[in-house]
Formats: sequence, structure tokens, C-alpha cells
Amino acid sequence: MYHSRVTIVVSRYLCLMAEDLHITAGTKTEQYQSLVPQIKALLEGEPDLIANLANMVAALKEQFGWLWIGFYLVKNDELVLGPFQGPVACTRIKKGRGVCGSSWQQAKTLIVPDVEKFPGHIACSSASRSEIVIPVIRNGEVMAVLDVDSVELDQFDAVDQQYLEQLVTLPAFT
Ligand code: SME
Repeated sequence: MYHSRVTIVVSRYLCLMAEDLHITAGTKTEQYQSLVPQIKALLEGEPDLIANLANMVAALKEQFGWLWIGFYLVKNDELVLGPFQGPVACTRIKKGRGVCGSSWQQAKTLIVPDVEKFPGHIACSSASRSEIVIPVIRNGEVMAVLDVDSVELDQFDAVDQQYLEQLVTLPAFT
């Protein structure tokens, strides 16, 4: 009992090194299957939302090498840039604007195979060619969106949707 309590307390303060993340080759499904438990372990016992979102996007960027991945948080009826990895991005997005604002408004995941064909797409980086946006929903309310951009066309599919939707259920938005 004493030992397990000590272990939990100590593990909270241990820093997981980047090289501790196990990067997997293989199919996209295999990559997610390896990464999801690692992200769960990263978040376990840590109550801070920003810390958890930051580590989640860092782990995903390490594994998949996408151009950009990050959260936009709903604040005062706008999306405001949160933890991300990649080039600098627009800081505020209104409801219904761009892919992120549309995902928020519709409360559903949007997969955009070619951003140039999405009316109103907001180009934070000219290198972005395809995109997926996942709403983070708690008690029926969209709290944030997770946005992922790729330099390749048509990079996101139902596999990304399945695993990213699973991952965004993990952080506690309290
Ligand atoms: N392309 C997004 C804007 C956010 S950046 O891609 C990081 C959109 O259309 O909502």
C-alpha cells in the first residue's frame, strides 16, 4: 500500500523523455494501436488540461510527422488557439468559419481531402493540403476541436477519425 502510493506520487513528477515514446512503423492502424496506450499513460494521474493537451499533440506529431496538429479551445464563443505542434497558426476562429469553426458548429468530425475545395477554408499555412478536425464534446457541448493538417492531399480517413475521436475523450475538460 505504502509502496504503491509512493510510486504514483513519484511517477507524476518523473518526466517522460521524448526518446521514451515508442515510435512504431507499420500500417496506420498499427501506429495508432501502439500510440493510444502510450498517450493514456502520459495523461494518467495528471489533472492539468493544458499539460495533457500539449503532450497528446506532441506524441501524435512525433509518431505521424504531420505538418500541424493542435487544439483550439472554445472561449467566449470563439475558438482560441491552444497547445499545438507545427508552424505558427491563426489564434482565433469564429463559429462556422473554416474547417474548425464548421466542425464546432456541426459538432462532428470533418475530413477534408483537398483544402482548396473546402469553401471558406482558413489557410494558416500554404503548405497544408488536407485536414481533419475532431470536435471535443463533453455533456453534449463542444469544448474544443482537434485540428490536424498534412502537406499531402487526402491523408485522413476513417482510421484517423476512429482513433482521434477516441483520443479526444481522454483529457478531462473541467
Ligand atoms: N485550416 C483551419 C484553420 C486552422 S489551421 O489549419 C491551423 C480551418 O480552416 O479552420
